[in-house]
Amino acid sequence: PVADRIADLLGRMTVEEKIGQMLQLDARDDLEDQVLRMHAGSILHASPEKVLRARELTLQTRLRIPLLVGEDCIHGHSFWEGATIYPTQLGMAATWDADLAERVARATAVEVSATGIHWTFSPVLCITRDLRWGRVDETFGEDPFLIGELASAMVRGYQGGGLDDPTAILATAKHFAGYSETQGGRDASEADISRRKLRSWFLPPFERVAKEGCRTFMLGYQTTDGVPITVNDWLLNDVLRGEWGYTGTLITDWDNVGRMVWEQKVQPDYAHAAAAAVLAGNDMIMTTPGFFQGAQDALAQGLMTEEALDRAVARILLLKFEFGLFEDPRLPDRERIATAVGSAEHTALNLEVARRSLVLLRNDGTLPLAGGLTADASGRAMGAASGSRRIAVVGPLADDAQTQLGDWAGSSGQVDWIPDGHPREMIATVLDGVRAHAPADWEITHARGADILTLEEDPEGAFFPDGQPRPQVVVPSAADADLIAEAVAAAEAADYVVAVVGDRIELVGEGRSTATLELVGGQLALLEALAATGTPLVVVLLASKPHVLPKTVTDAAALVWAANPGMRGGQAVAELLLGLIEPSGRLPLSFARHAGQLPIYYNQIRGQHGDRYADLTQSPAFAFGEGLSYTTVEYSGLRVVDADLGREDTVRALVELHNTGDRPAHEIVQVYVRDSITSVSWADKELKAYRHVDLQPGETATVELSLPVAECTIVDAAGRRLVEAGEFEVLVGPSSRDEVLLSARFHVADATALPAAP
Ligand code: IFM
Repeated sequence: PVADRIADLLGRMTVEEKIGQMLQLDARDDLEDQVLRMHAGSILHASPEKVLRARELTLQTRLRIPLLVGEDCIHGHSFWEGATIYPTQLGMAATWDADLAERVARATAVEVSATGIHWTFSPVLCITRDLRWGRVDETFGEDPFLIGELASAMVRGYQGGGLDDPTAILATAKHFAGYSETQGGRDASEADISRRKLRSWFLPPFERVAKEGCRTFMLGYQTTDGVPITVNDWLLNDVLRGEWGYTGTLITDWDNVGRMVWEQKVQPDYAHAAAAAVLAGNDMIMTTPGFFQGAQDALAQGLMTEEALDRAVARILLLKFEFGLFEDPRLPDRERIATAVGSAEHTALNLEVARRSLVLLRNDGTLPLAGGLTADASGRAMGAASGSRRIAVVGPLADDAQTQLGDWAGSSGQVDWIPDGHPREMIATVLDGVRAHAPADWEITHARGADILTLEEDPEGAFFPDGQPRPQVVVPSAADADLIAEAVAAAEAADYVVAVVGDRIELVGEGRSTATLELVGGQLALLEALAATGTPLVVVLLASKPHVLPKTVTDAAALVWAANPGMRGGQAVAELLLGLIEPSGRLPLSFARHAGQLPIYYNQIRGQHGDRYADLTQSPAFAFGEGLSYTTVEYSGLRVVDADLGREDTVRALVELHNTGDRPAHEIVQVYVRDSITSVSWADKELKAYRHVDLQPGETATVELSLPVAECTIVDAAGRRLVEAGEFEVLVGPSSRDEVLLSARFHVADATALPAAP
């Protein structure tokens, strides 16, 4: 049995070997030192050559314990040249489709496992709160229920049929927990968050995946109440391992242990930091080489016992045994790489997700172009009956392949082995897409129109004090009159102008929060100039986050939000503009009108004095759940089947949907719950369910929605999650905006107050 094999190994390991087993080190550094001297148990950021070299070195060690290889493959196999890059998590969230998310994760696992990587640091379960945060693109947005649905699906997809499946990889739920509750949107700042608030909104998605078998959890960088999360005994031991019964592995984020010494300054030295981390229950220590000596010193100074060390090492060995690494080190497999990586099947899935992720936010009837076209067998639109058209595709992102892929795609300097990013021919930018899919007799012109930023050398040098270089600072470009004039000329000569704007990869990511939410560089001036031409302006936002949009954008003829839509994203955008596909994405988070409105999520607690500023409304520019179609769907007749329910019952509601237009609709019917009176302040409404419904032109359908009463919970003043008896509203409609939601009431009886049965 595995327990015996673990006990046997522990009995034969030296203290140094045990400490090393807990280390995950950066393979871009000295691999020999890591494996041979420090006995590392795991590596990350390893190029294919490094994976093989690490194996050779492992075979030279005394016990030949196989290495776990980790990587941030968070929307596809980020760091393998030619692998499939899907829309970012935020883009995937706009599909509201757990099945698609599971298929993406499965396909990613098939590619990743073929290349000798065992462990992905995905999915991200953080809740977006402050849109200035640099990692909004990595989240599934602002709603805990939607996050739970999609994250759980991705975990299932990564881990496949079980760890003995050769295409399974380990999933990581991160960043546990509350990391996104930033100060001013600044990355890794203190998370000022109460335990009750954690239990109310931040923990539920994590609890779900913990109970569903996600094998690893990563601890965030932040401190809460003065304590780094890495050593938060309540969260790690009472809640995660205690209440939820989690038996998986915990990994720190990058140098969390060292950070307690050199950054947060809550530990005097590495011995104390190492002891604190081990005693709190951490297993894998990411990129803190100082842990190796620190843990030895901690033992010598009596700050921790070898038994504490053994508990962590046993959990790592268990993972390796269950993963079958002792029998098969799961090295890169040439044959599988050739068939799996970037395969036609995965490219087709990539396109499917991109199509479903696009959110149409505004349309005065300009879209679909020329009234909508149909494609020929090759996927190119056939000419409009009303003749050919000229389209000007302009903007700094119209042909920017790397930005389209988003962060964690080998495109932002995180790795050095694919310096030029992914092969250009695998990527369809919006310009490529329009050229390839517009009718052959349409004239397509292009002008960049503006720059977004320039990079200047950073006199302060490094991003992380421990050495990771981030030697550039981002300087917004000034508006360039010549570039604008060129785009204006193209727009004036065209029937439509499609402006592709947003942010660039240098403005996105860890440590790259933005102070503002404006479209930077020459983009605002470009949009003004384009709007002034009078040519119908279609704006496509390729962006890592919701920006504050100028009137030229909110008043444009049409507006499409595309997030970072992955390799085939430009094709999907072109198909949408031409009406070859129907828009079906819905916003997974709110758009602010001004950064001063932050935080602006829809499920705020009620009872805040005033819902507007003296100088600005608090309503969002675009709300959670919003998204248009090329048709209109009317909702009517919402009713609950039984309005008197007990806590064990299920709310069943019926609603009529009618597609009143002449194009098909893919509707996402959203179900929110409002608890009329709660013992403590609570969200005014919360998403509890949704259903995808396809409707042909003119079609009417009765849609049944069901929801267990047990889901209609709050967290009371004592921190208990429970259903409080009383009146509730079920709210059903096409977005979270009150104006579009139908309401029906139901009542939950207080079972304890009911008279006893005779
Ligand atoms: O997985 C990431 C984490 O999300 C942020 N810090 C670095 C880790 C490893 O790359």
